[in-house]
Parts: sequence; structure tokens; C-alpha cells
Amino acid sequence: MSDQTAPAPAEGKLGVLTPGMGAVATTFISGVLAVRKGFAAPTGSLTQMGHIRLGKRTEERNPLIKDFVPLAALDDLEFGGWDPYSDDAYAAAMKAGVLDARHVEGIGEELRAIRPMSAVFSPRWVRNLDGVDQVKESTGSHMDSAEALMEDIDRFQADKQVDRLVAVWCGSTEAYEEPTEVHADLQAFERGLKEGDEAITPSQIYAYACLKMGVPFANGAPNLTVDIPAMVELAAQERLPIAGKDFKTGQTLMKTMVAPGLKSRMLGINGWFSTNILGNRDGEVLDDPESFRSKEVSKLGVLEHILQPDVYPELYGDIYHKVRINYYPPKGDDKEGWDHIDIFGWLGYPMQIKIDFLCKDSILAAPIVLDLALLMDLAARSGKSGIQEWLSFYFKSPQHAPEVYPENDLFIQHTKLKNNLRHLMGEDLITHLGTEYYDEA
Ligand SMILES: NC(=O)c1ccc[n+]([C@@H]2O[C@H](COP(=O)([O-])OP(=O)(O)OC[C@H]3O[C@@H](n4cnc5c(N)ncnc54)[C@H](O)[C@@H]3O)[C@@H](O)[C@H]2O)c1
Repeated sequence: MSDQTAPAPAEGKLGVLTPGMGAVATTFISGVLAVRKGFAAPTGSLTQMGHIRLGKRTEERNPLIKDFVPLAALDDLEFGGWDPYSDDAYAAAMKAGVLDARHVEGIGEELRAIRPMSAVFSPRWVRNLDGVDQVKESTGSHMDSAEALMEDIDRFQADKQVDRLVAVWCGSTEAYEEPTEVHADLQAFERGLKEGDEAITPSQIYAYACLKMGVPFANGAPNLTVDIPAMVELAAQERLPIAGKDFKTGQTLMKTMVAPGLKSRMLGINGWFSTNILGNRDGEVLDDPESFRSKEVSKLGVLEHILQPDVYPELYGDIYHKVRINYYPPKGDDKEGWDHIDIFGWLGYPMQIKIDFLCKDSILAAPIVLDLALLMDLAARSGKSGIQEWLSFYFKSPQHAPEVYPENDLFIQHTKLKNNLRHLMGEDLITHLGTEYYDEA
């Protein structure tokens, strides 16, 4: 039995706040509404469709995850968020063009009722967005902006009568930044908020406001947001979970499936060239070199941590790894990602792998938003606070303790997530040792 406190039951309604109500957020919301009405299945959501084995294989206990841990029910979710464009969720979903009318029309009324609140936004951090029409007026103090967001949260909670809240950043990728002194601790950060420090990004103002209001915060974009010491300190102080960064979809999802397989067979890699074309608003934002830099850093780290070139220098010590993203409007949300992988095997003989993944980015990201919202809420009800490394499964660049490297291997992440759920519910962890089936009595 574990020392974990059992999670409190998921009573009442859960508000899911998404700063950023573009393609991913509206695909997530539309999907949940469609599933509630029985129009579609929640494909891609581990919390909704995944089973979890408990005990020995001979016990045949394999419940659905959502029956095993007390998660908020889809019927109990209320949606809200912020965006610098005032389009309601229906108009935003139509513009994003991810879902067919057959999915959006049946839930049009509910989507039209979801209107984003005006945003804390700065073109300094997200360029390439024109015609934004609802941005909170800045007084020069970020603390004022944070307080305005806190009032929004209060109002949302009262209007929708929600009992608990979680936030998942679905906003555009902010320009790349290295942490500065203002991010180093909470005191410096709060001073910086008051003084309007230029190194504090809008996403950090949202995260601060959410954590101060008791709202767990997960970050789906590659910007630092909660991945700074000041936020880790705030999360610890408020006893709240935080997680990030960058939803693991598309090409990186493929990479973290294929790389562990090649490594497990001790096949070497000389080069991995990844390029993709996409034409949605995310692609437009990423066309700006500063925003792309955030994404590039997040995407490049993945292979290094999976392949461990320092441990396997002769196999992975000399990889040429390149990642490119190209904005190509005709593709819309239908991304095409190419991977060209130069590998070598027995006696160094070269081989090649080519992957052409015709994926739909938001279709892959939407179930992640759902799972993160439900699991972050579960974490909060279970008294878990700080960095939730067990949710690495969902991220390209998982936030982790400073003294460890991030775990990027999808299969290890999956095992870790499930073992954390078993631990949470006082079940034995599964070690896959398997000797018990063969031991002589
Ligand atoms: N789609 C994927 O597979 C995927 C994968 C990993 C990460 N992401 C990240 O998720 C985020 C959302 O992706 P998307 O495809 O929905 O992009 P999108 O451009 O369709 O939506 C982002 C929305 O955020 C809004 N926004 C920008 N700054 C904001 C601010 N300060 N406050 C509130 N809203 C703000 C924009 O107006 C826009 O509507 C991006 O950062 C993207 O990089 C997406």
C-alpha cells in the first residue's frame, strides 16, 4: 500500500480555462460537447478510452482509467478563456477550419455561448497577429493586468457556478526567452510585475493570476510560462500542481515513438532531418523567427534525452539533427511532416527511414487538453503540488526538477503515468518483472 492520500471525490462542476481560444482550444471544446451529445467518441484521450491493468495478469482486473480514478465527468465541465480576438467559440472553430460542419453544427448553440474574455496581450511577445480587437488596457503595471485576470476568474466562477478550476495555456507561442533575474524567485517576480518588467511575458501573468486564485496551470506551448523558479515557488506556496511544456503532437510524437525503438535495438543514427509545412494561425505565428526559436528549442531537446549520446557515443554521438517549420497557408490545419532518418546497423551498414505524416495538429492536441485538465484537477484533489513530472507523457519538453534530465521516451512516460495512478489509488505498482507466473510453488 502507498503513503499517498486518496484523492477527494470530483464533486460539482469543473471550469476549464484556456488562455488562447484558437484552433486547439475550440477543437477541444467542440470535441467534448460532441462526445457529450453522443456524436463522436473521445478517440485519442487516455483518460476516456484507456484501461489500466491492476495486479497480476491472471487477476484480469483492467478497468477504464476514468472508472479507476475519480475524474471530473465530461458533463460537469464548463469552458471559458481569454483571447485577443473576440470571436465566440463557434466563429473561432469555423475560422480554424479543423472540424467539419457535421460536428460543429449540432453544438453551435453551446459554442456561440462561449465568448473569450479580453486578453492580456503584447505584440512584443507574439508578432504576426493582426487586427486583435479585445486587449486589456495596460497601466504599465503587470500586477494590474494580473488583478484584472483574477477578477475575470472570480466572475467566471460565480457565473458558471463551478466548484473547481484548471487552466491550460492554449495561446500562441511567445517569442523565445532565457530566464532572467526577475524569474529567479517569487519576490523578484512580484516586484517585476509591479514595475512592469519587460522580461515578464503575458503567459506568465496568466499563470501568476491563476495560481494566486488556486487554479492549477498546465502550459501547452513551448514558452517558459511556469517553467521558471518563481512559478515553481508560487506553486509550492499555493500547494498547486503545474505542468508543461508544449503539447506532444505531430512530428515530435512520432519521434518519441520511433527513437526509443531504434535505441532499444542498439541501431545507430547519423542524422535526423525533420521538416513540416502547416498553414494555420499557429504556423503564421511560428513564421516569426523569435516564436520559432521557442519551438525549435523544445523540439530539438527530445532526441538528446532519449538517445543519451554521452552513454552511447558510438551510436548517437554524432547525430545531425535539424528541425524546420514552414508556414504554407494552403495546408490549413492539415500539417505534413517529413522525417528523413539516416540509421546504421550491424557492422555500420547504412539504412534509411522516411516518414511522411499527414496529420491534423489540433485533432492530436485536443485530447491532450482534455486529459491534462482532468488529471491536473485530479492532482490538485490528491494534494499533489509543484511540477507534475508524471504528466510528461503529454509534453514535447516536459518540465522537470533541476537535478534530473527530462524523460522523453513515450513508453516510459506512459508507464510512469499509469504507475502514478496506481500509486494514487493504493494499488501495487507494475514492475513487469513477471517471474511470479513461472516460480515453482
Ligand atoms: N496544435 C498542436 O498540435 C500543438 C502542439 C503543441 C503546441 N501547440 C501550441 O498550442 C498553442 C495553440 O495552438 P493553436 O493551433 O490553437 O494556435 P491558434 O493560433 O489557432 O490559437 C492561439 C490563440 O491564442 C491567442 N492568443 C495569443 N496571445 C494570447 C494572449 N496573450 N492571451 C490570450 N490569447 C492569446 C491567439 O489570438 C489565438 O487565437 C500554440 O502555442 C501552439 O504552438 C499546438
